[in-house]
Amino acid sequence: MQYNLEEIKNKVYKKFMDSTNLEKQERFAHTIRVMEMAEKIIKSNNLNIDLNKAKIAALIHDYAKFYDSKELLAYAREYKLNCKDFKNNYKVLHALVGPIIIRKELNIYDEDILDAVKYHTTGNEALSPLSMLIYVSDFVEEGRDFFEAKKFREIALKDYIFAGAKISEFTIDLLKKKNYSIHPNTIKMYEYYKNKL
Ligand SMILES: [Fe+2]
Ligand SMILES: [Fe+2]
Repeated sequence: MQYNLEEIKNKVYKKFMDSTNLEKQERFAHTIRVMEMAEKIIKSNNLNIDLNKAKIAALIHDYAKFYDSKELLAYAREYKLNCKDFKNNYKVLHALVGPIIIRKELNIYDEDILDAVKYHTTGNEALSPLSMLIYVSDFVEEGRDFFEAKKFREIALKDYIFAGAKISEFTIDLLKKKNYSIHPNTIKMYEYYKNKL
């Protein structure tokens, strides 16, 4: 099914721009930059990924970002996601619960797009090309100006899977250093792609 990009963009815009909340406005700008980065990576890597699907996945990847963690947890319980994985790990909730909310509110049912939303924060083993594209684009979009984002951006424009492996390694190291809990999918991602490093 072909979804209408402009229609979805307007819905996401309304979701993020209907208030004076600056954080929400910046989140919309971020989703546009992720969309632009995804297109650049598709072109520079010569990928056989449907551009319309990639743009939609980028636009909606953070759709659930501004639901509070209580609400997200309630969804997670209702849909029987493994809640023990979220303990002290609320940052991943907006990604894992995102597909549930997106199905309901945006009527998007394409599993490839929904997987890209689901795995954009943690990654996973054997990601589809679209899921890897969104995982990488989210990290290296041009608004991110820290050292690794710049370095991995350059890599992503040549070899986006190698960039994904580097991002996964960096993320695991960072979470360990900060003593944060690590979601099982984050570990699966690293274990699956570490031989590319
Ligand atoms: Fe996110
Ligand atoms: Fe994001």
